[in-house]
Amino acid sequence: MYGLVNKAIREMVTIGYGDAMWEKIRAQAGVDDVFISMDQYPEQVTDKLVIAASAILGVSPSDILNGFGQYWIGFAHRHYDYVFDMSGNTFLEFVKNLNNMHSRIGQWMPDLRPPSFTVTKETAESFHLHYYSSRSGFGSMVEGLLAGLGERFNTEVKVEHLGGVEQGLDHEQFFVRYRPR
Ligand code: HEM
Repeated sequence: MYGLVNKAIREMVTIGYGDAMWEKIRAQAGVDDVFISMDQYPEQVTDKLVIAASAILGVSPSDILNGFGQYWIGFAHRHYDYVFDMSGNTFLEFVKNLNNMHSRIGQWMPDLRPPSFTVTKETAESFHLHYYSSRSGFGSMVEGLLAGLGERFNTEVKVEHLGGVEQGLDHEQFFVRYRPR
């Protein structure tokens, strides 16, 4: 996983809970203090950070990932506003552009293993979202990401997890309802 992701987790913890809390989580996870955005880190670094944050903050790992998904939207927008600006003007447009967006990012992050998304069963106020990934366990992050995108596009978003790997599927499925405010 690119260091950028761990860097965002670090920022989320320090801004939300302070430096001392980050130090506690980092030490329990047994990982370094500094992350270089463009360097690759073992997947376990991210996993260990989520597990340590969950244990120390008393929040489930899926809630940590959900919160991180929401945080990621603001973080990525602050650092890569141009990517955001050219990826859609509405919630739905943006969601449909996620694959193009990650391929563009892959041009400067050549080792990126991005997720992929498909929209089906589209109506004026809902759709099914299919999330394919080479990783497992990030479904809650997708729910947080969608909530964060909803905030960004001033749209009310409700996400329901329909099923996925635990039900024997090869990807996670969500039912997404949305309504511009
Ligand atoms: C400028 C904006 C963004 C950047 C720079 C970015 C970049 C990245 C990077 C570096 C990773 C780690 C993958 C790796 O290192 O192989 C990642 C993973 C991921 N991204 Fe993005 N991303 C952006 C926006 C988004 C948005 C808006 C969504 C969805 C709404 C999204 C969904 C995900 C998910 C779910 C993963 C988890 C990893 C997985 O399933 O394998 N990203 N992204």
